[in-house]
Amino acid sequence: MKVLIVGSGGREHAIAWKVAQSPKVKKVYAIPGNPGMAKVGECVDIKPAEIEKLADFAEREGIDLTIVGPEAPLVAGIVNEFEKRGLRIFGPSKEAARLEGSKAFSKEMMKRFNVPTAEFEVFEDPEKAKEYIRKKGAPIVVKADGLAAGKGVVVAKTVEEALEAIEKIMVKRVFGDAGKKVVIEECLVGEEASYLVVTDGRNFIPLATSQDHKAVFDGDRGPNTGGMGAYSPAPVLSPEMEKEVQDRVIKPILKGMEEIGTPFKGILYAGLMITEEGPKVLEFNVRFGDPEAQVLMRRLETDLIEVCESVVEGKLIEKLDWKPETAICVVLASKGYPGSYEKGKEITGIEEAEKVETVVVFHAGTAVKNGKLVTNGGRVLNVTALGKDIVEARERAYRAIEKIHFEGMHYRKDIGMKAVKRIAGEDNKSS
Ligand code: AMP
Ligand code: GLY
Repeated sequence: MKVLIVGSGGREHAIAWKVAQSPKVKKVYAIPGNPGMAKVGECVDIKPAEIEKLADFAEREGIDLTIVGPEAPLVAGIVNEFEKRGLRIFGPSKEAARLEGSKAFSKEMMKRFNVPTAEFEVFEDPEKAKEYIRKKGAPIVVKADGLAAGKGVVVAKTVEEALEAIEKIMVKRVFGDAGKKVVIEECLVGEEASYLVVTDGRNFIPLATSQDHKAVFDGDRGPNTGGMGAYSPAPVLSPEMEKEVQDRVIKPILKGMEEIGTPFKGILYAGLMITEEGPKVLEFNVRFGDPEAQVLMRRLETDLIEVCESVVEGKLIEKLDWKPETAICVVLASKGYPGSYEKGKEITGIEEAEKVETVVVFHAGTAVKNGKLVTNGGRVLNVTALGKDIVEARERAYRAIEKIHFEGMHYRKDIGMKAVKRIAGEDNKSS
């Protein structure tokens, strides 16, 4: 088989790495890919937004299956275009991807199908939005309706902060048309958890558990990023809570999407707040998380091609097998990320790092310039490792990181520490 991976981040490198191990796969292509993906496949210089060119390429090369990493091409309708041409592709249609592409649509769906979520109102007029904020008071949450690369949400502690958010999103339009509408919602209190499932539109299977670390600095301090690290398993949900999430969130939303004539196929990622009243949905994503995918691909035993094909064919695979080990991913970022940062810094030491047992380094923002590997983005590399537990996985990943160097390299030192503390707590209880 020939398989095409769309995207260029650490998530897509992890997917390409896993796909390349499938006995069914002869060749992997990546659009646009990155220097890490170039080691497991061929990178093709087309922009993921150029959907028709992508489909032309898939037709010309006789691609048997396409897997889409990021949300933007899904929201733009890549699946519709490929399916129209009879090309097999893994991911939701444009209509189904609205669950991530429009927060207003997503909230309306939750309301209509009784999925627990924060109380909300949708506004198209900034003055009416401001009036509502003054009436409700703070804390309050303001969200741009459309895609804003994870930056369109303001959890405002004061009314002034919320009013400023309206000004920025709706009036100054810093996220462009994503700010035509806003969702304003109640601020929820509790612990955050992610719940990911693979679905063919009707049936679903949960993926292994994982936890992301969104803030840029240790101790969850500083601004939110796309994700600074992850580990799996991360049993943040009790078995009872998991059942509740399946019954009250996953089943009704999948049924709702089917009922409105736009069944959801692919990976559904529910971002949850576990409140005193039970789980409530903060948002839906319509794809794997990044860096959650990196740890999931390290642990998945089942052939990913079989999983994707089962969804494309509408006959969901019966079960997924996972390695019993713990996987960790630590993101190495450029100084200044998620704000502005410099590019073009030479990277050394990846080969040495990969000599540490179980370590695999996935590329994200890297490029080759004049024969040298250099930084080319905010999140640069993902150092992943396995271990019999989180302590061993951490030790390996951090030992490997010591071998890697680029100017201004920043990473969190506490990835997985919540799990280490949980284990220590349990040991103390039992001793
Ligand atoms: P979202 O992109 O909608 O998941 O929002 C990004 C982050 O903002 C979430 O991961 C939460 O930390 C926070 N957040 C979003 N909605 C709420 C809410 N209603 N109450 C409290 N925090 C929220
Ligand atoms: N790591 C969070 C996300 O991919 O949305």
